[in-house]
Amino acid sequence: MRMRRKRNLDERLQACSDLLLVKGRPMLNLREAAENFRNLLNYEDVFGNKNPVELEIGCGNGGFIREISKRYPERNFLAVEICSNVILTALERCKAEKISNVRFLNIPAEILPCYLPSKSVGTIYLNFSTPLPEKSREKQRLTSSRFLAIYRELLVPGGKIIQKTDSEEFFDYSLQKYAENGYRVVKVIRDLKNSEYAAENIVTEYERNFAEKGLPIFCAVVRKLNV
Ligand SMILES: C[S@@+](CC[C@H](N)C(=O)[O-])C[C@H]1O[C@@H](n2cnc3c(N)ncnc32)[C@H](O)[C@@H]1O
Repeated sequence: MRMRRKRNLDERLQACSDLLLVKGRPMLNLREAAENFRNLLNYEDVFGNKNPVELEIGCGNGGFIREISKRYPERNFLAVEICSNVILTALERCKAEKISNVRFLNIPAEILPCYLPSKSVGTIYLNFSTPLPEKSREKQRLTSSRFLAIYRELLVPGGKIIQKTDSEEFFDYSLQKYAENGYRVVKVIRDLKNSEYAAENIVTEYERNFAEKGLPIFCAVVRKLNV
């Protein structure tokens, strides 16, 4: 079901423009944009410091990015979300809490290289990315080879991806893709809530639903290989 457009969406996004670095996409198709358009961010200008930068892709309402940014004030965070209606909630909550080390991009992840310098991100978080089980949508999965190539470009040497999902099928698919695309899988957790990592875990909005139903959460940590 399509979400109803939020009231005064454009005006409210505009009111958060200090936190919203990019909205929309260049007037090119995604492929052309990813290959040809560059308007790279200068993180020092954006955050006013040289702290390391981490990235969440598909941040939804922003519960995770708010929590992690408060836990690690010595790091900077970027959050990407394709849907304006959804990112608005994340923006407004961050603004209300006066969080200073998070900025947002309202773009499809496909065009991240247009805005983020290569080898500039230490960790990428993929929290409950849509599994898209249909074969015809494989390229859109956020752990397909296409996206893993983009992340390889953005990650610093030895940088990592931390993925969480409720879908075992998507999880196993992702593990295979990491291995095929120049990443080393360093941690595989098949029931996060009942693991030694449960205490440090930041529960996202989607995760809360699954955890309340007693469903296992799958988590992987993978490192970019320097090949
Ligand atoms: C299932 S929700 C998970 C939201 C949040 N991470 C959580 O765990 O609560 C997946 C989110 O990813 C966003 N998304 C999907 N494909 C994307 C893409 N290519 N680029 C940016 N965001 C995307 C969707 O709009 C949606 O908000």
